[in-house]
Amino acid sequence: MTEQKSSNAMWGGRFAAGPDAIMEAINASISFDKRLASQDIAASRAHAAMLADTGILTDTDAAAIREGLLTVLSEIETGAFPFSAALEDIHMNVEARLTELIGEPARRLHTGRSRNDQVATDFRMWVRDQCDAAVFGLEALMKALLVQAEAGADAVMPGFTHLQTAQPVTWGHHMMAYVEMFARDRSRFVDARTRMNECPLGAAALAGTSFPIDRYASASALGFDRPMANSLDAVSDRDFALEFLSSASICATHLSRFAEEMVIWSSAQFRFVRLSDRFSTGSSIMPQKRNPDAAELIRAKVGRITGSLVALLTIMKGLPLAYSKDMQEDKEQVFDAADTLMLSLAAMEGMVRDMVPGFEVMRGAASSGFSTATDLADWLVRELGLPFREAHHVTGSLVKLAETKACDLPDLSLEEMQSAHSGITEAVYDVLGVDKSVASRASYGGTAPEQVIVQVKRWQDLLK
Ligand code: ARG
Repeated sequence: MTEQKSSNAMWGGRFAAGPDAIMEAINASISFDKRLASQDIAASRAHAAMLADTGILTDTDAAAIREGLLTVLSEIETGAFPFSAALEDIHMNVEARLTELIGEPARRLHTGRSRNDQVATDFRMWVRDQCDAAVFGLEALMKALLVQAEAGADAVMPGFTHLQTAQPVTWGHHMMAYVEMFARDRSRFVDARTRMNECPLGAAALAGTSFPIDRYASASALGFDRPMANSLDAVSDRDFALEFLSSASICATHLSRFAEEMVIWSSAQFRFVRLSDRFSTGSSIMPQKRNPDAAELIRAKVGRITGSLVALLTIMKGLPLAYSKDMQEDKEQVFDAADTLMLSLAAMEGMVRDMVPGFEVMRGAASSGFSTATDLADWLVRELGLPFREAHHVTGSLVKLAETKACDLPDLSLEEMQSAHSGITEAVYDVLGVDKSVASRASYGGTAPEQVIVQVKRWQDLLK
């Protein structure tokens, strides 16, 4: 037998007994939706002001409500607020405390609204703030990347495909690739924010209300562009949260790729970068170890964020209109994903700011592995008029020769070069160096230092 509670103050009129303790455990959301407190209070204050302006409440009652809600807010902020699971959620906790504080007027606050539009409004406001926080975090990270890119705009490193040396690129170019990716992430959050910035308040339970409310007034008081145009839609969709989670998942995916590169680059085998002590840990047994834990954790955190997206998509799938209690399960997913994303962004920004690139090591790595083979093939096409397929073949035979001699392409003698094609001249050596190679790739968006600088300057201006 589980304990029986007395009937609920909010709907006790129809109920003889209170909920089973297990019912309370599965039903109550206050343990997590207390995070919506400031949004809930702001929305209630806007609602009260609107009710007074439209003559639905007296000015005296509305003033008492608005003042009382500020007291509730300060109790919550100072930790003095007595949260109660019996009162289920943040909406009823706040209203009950307001009633204790100011009595009768508090009981008029719920006119022309419902918890369904209340929660939809509070949660939109919360997610809206998180879009702004993500934009802020992304911009900080992009600025850190720009510093790295500018300092190493002409530093040569191996570019990879299949994680095999492909062609030399510049460090600045590699950093700027992430700037572009994070810039698109940023614009996804900006877009999502614009779309979600419509106010559900006043949709009431699902059908709207018979009171002459002014939804435009409460919407604009809460910073929304306009009220949502359909009350059923307003209380029953969570696509704004899904858009936040999908933007977060894509961003976390980008972060995980960069994190993986940091793990590889900081290894003793690569030594392309040195991560700072502030973002590394040691081993309790192996004294030589510097573990890139922050990078590994960022690499992993995408699992939680994408997991939240899949969870909420699954929760929402197949729900009939309008509100269903299933939707209470939206919050923990979004709270966790948002916390995780903001932490990952901050950790990545710190790592990027502190990381010291090993330009000499990277240059050495770029010069081995026949990274300029494509430059040789292009030279044969340009200078000797060979078809590219034939040039590819000639170059391949020279790579093979160098491989058997355990040397690199520029180490082959002119005679050896000519054994593959008699037309090759001394001038070929000009294109076999890594600096020449990257400088030659000056097409728009290419790896040449001059192109990198163009993009660095562009983003420095845009992020000013
Ligand atoms: N705690 C609820 C939620 O998060 C608030 C809305 C409850 N509405 C209702 N009709 N029971 O979804």
